[in-house]
Amino acid sequence: MKTGMVVLAVVALGVGIFVGRGFDRADEQVLQPPTTITVATPKVTELSNSIDAMRRGAALNIEPESLPLARVENADIKRGRAYPMQPPTIPHAIDSYQVDQNSNRCMLCHGQANAQNFQAPPVSVTHYMDRDGQVLAEISARRYFCVQCHVVQTDAPTLVDNSFLGADEILAPTAAPAE
Ligand code: HEC
Ligand code: HEC
Repeated sequence: MKTGMVVLAVVALGVGIFVGRGFDRADEQVLQPPTTITVATPKVTELSNSIDAMRRGAALNIEPESLPLARVENADIKRGRAYPMQPPTIPHAIDSYQVDQNSNRCMLCHGQANAQNFQAPPVSVTHYMDRDGQVLAEISARRYFCVQCHVVQTDAPTLVDNSFLGADEILAPTAAPAE
């Protein structure tokens, strides 16, 4: 009788762990970096002349099939900044990170108070400045809604040609040689 109960308890524990791990794995899958996806890359040169690059050259009376939504990269790999005051792109997914009047999920990790606990880079001091340059104790209202300026990184193809150069590329020809 007693042995029966013990066996039952062990089986229940096993099932519990198994189910629990199953859920964990489901979570992990959501957070994993994207695997391969094939996006038809439009021909850039044709597109720069078209009426709207999003239409990918389709005539106005034709409804082109939409491209699949771009995948958000979640690999913790930072992208370079093109100039000193560029808001860095977000190297992680931000699904379900709520930012509203009552709470700011981003500041949970990026606030000065908590950043070390999450090993996240704290927001810089500009995020605490009001419009007169006074440094406040809390995140400035001007910097509260993070995704006004910061965007996630995606694998979206470039839709039109452009000749944009980052500040360093512009300066490179005139820069003094290294050493
Ligand atoms: C669970 C903690 C956490 C939350 C919540 C979080 N981040 Fe992050 N963030 C990190 C960590 C850790 C890094 C460092 C790079 C990495 O590991 O992805 C980072 C990196 C960044 C960077 C890159 C900084 C740089 O110097 O390149 C930006 C920008 C950023 N996060 C913005 C946001 C925004 C906007 C939100 C809310 C929508 C947010 N983060 C929510 C933990 C978090
Ligand atoms: C009005 C635009 C704007 C908003 C809103 C904003 N940022 Fe930034 N952020 C910037 C700019 C510009 C930089 C780079 C220059 C600097 O540090 O001020 C930056 C830099 C950062 C960095 C890198 C800091 C470093 O030392 O390199 C992190 C992390 C960051 N922001 C997170 C956030 C989070 C989290 C929020 C929301 C609470 C937020 N930002 C809101 C413009 C903004």
